[in-house]
Amino acid sequence: MFNPLSPEFQRNPYPTYDQLRAETPILYYEPWDLWFITRYEDVRALLRDRRLGRTMDHIISREARGLPPTPEHLLPFRKLSDHSMFDKEPPEHTRLRSLVHKVFTPKRVESLRGRIQQVADGLIDAHIQRGEMDLLEDFAVPLPVTVIAELLGVPETDRHHLRPWSNDIVKMYELDHTPEQEQQAIQASIDFAAYLRHLAEARRHNPQDDLISALALVEEAGDRLTMDELISTCVLLLNAGHEATVNVMGNGLWALFQHPAQMQRLLDQPDLIPTGVEELMRYDTPLQLFRRWALEDFTYQGMAFKQGMQFGLMFGAANRDPARFANPHQLDVGRADNPHISFSEGIHFCLGAPLARLELQVAFATVLRRLMGLHLLETPAYRDTYVIRGLDALRVGFTPKTSG
Ligand code: HEM
Repeated sequence: MFNPLSPEFQRNPYPTYDQLRAETPILYYEPWDLWFITRYEDVRALLRDRRLGRTMDHIISREARGLPPTPEHLLPFRKLSDHSMFDKEPPEHTRLRSLVHKVFTPKRVESLRGRIQQVADGLIDAHIQRGEMDLLEDFAVPLPVTVIAELLGVPETDRHHLRPWSNDIVKMYELDHTPEQEQQAIQASIDFAAYLRHLAEARRHNPQDDLISALALVEEAGDRLTMDELISTCVLLLNAGHEATVNVMGNGLWALFQHPAQMQRLLDQPDLIPTGVEELMRYDTPLQLFRRWALEDFTYQGMAFKQGMQFGLMFGAANRDPARFANPHQLDVGRADNPHISFSEGIHFCLGAPLARLELQVAFATVLRRLMGLHLLETPAYRDTYVIRGLDALRVGFTPKTSG
């Protein structure tokens, strides 16, 4: 019997996905009144289907759905999501996304290439003489945190808050969370919002050459971001801007250690890094599940779904579907036909995908090029989370060097 909370499933969901995909690809899970979807074509079709949305609050209120109002203590967390494009549907989603898109442009991202390489090299330089490091804490975490913090304009002295705040908040996206985790997420929401309000107000009065200033000033046809929207957007960019990227680096490097021939291919042919990055994102999907709600009654694959029904789209299952990917359980860093779904599809397609791809390509290329004789010091373990899939640590050894 499928149990999404079982530690065995969460540690390695892929065998269960195979079974679900083959036997019950659209599975009603009664305990949560939710439909789990595992086939690639279904996940993709439902992500693009405008009869489903990330929220349905714009169509019918919680009260009208017979749900209790949001408990008072959850309001600080809810306030952040209520003003973020991530949890909005058109027309509000379109409005927020296009305002952000106006300043978070591909050109701005491409201009970061040199700086990303510099940060990656600096992190390796800091450890190269020791001959060992934790590639997660010493490299995969600080690289994207530094990049997104610099891009937004968070001063260096304050950056140590970002990872703990983000970690506490994103626990709310897991399938289950303890009251203690809920309390931590609420406190982090309060502190993060207060910090960003202060920073955004300062930038509105005294703009700098950074993304917070650009977002504070962006205007389209007389429309601007409100202060609450500005705060929520910054939290979204800071959190989304590193959580998954960290885990693609960790999960991806671990996958390469388990497939030494594939690691060797990347060492011999660095021009395979771009396809390698896409394959590592497919092979061990960093964000395993996203929810959607039926905005109206509708029929799909001959099945009738009622307005308000909830869906759990299993990205990790879709990315290993043999109907779409040849030999899906095989890691192939040269895989040419690889339309993985890790950045989602449809209107919520990851806004940061160009930045994530750039960071990941630089990160893998730098680690493989600079750390000679790279080997594992201990077998890594996955954290006990499911939606955000990632390792605790990745301790490696390599040949020490006296200069970079
Ligand atoms: C490998 C790293 C990343 C992965 C796997 C990833 C994945 C995703 C996914 C799956 C979604 C859509 C969720 C849904 O459909 O419900 C999303 C949305 C988003 N991502 Fe990413 N992301 C990554 C990196 C980034 C970065 C670096 C940024 C920004 C700096 C970013 C910013 C966003 C934003 C703003 C959204 C909301 C888009 C919307 O709702 O319209 N992401 N991301």
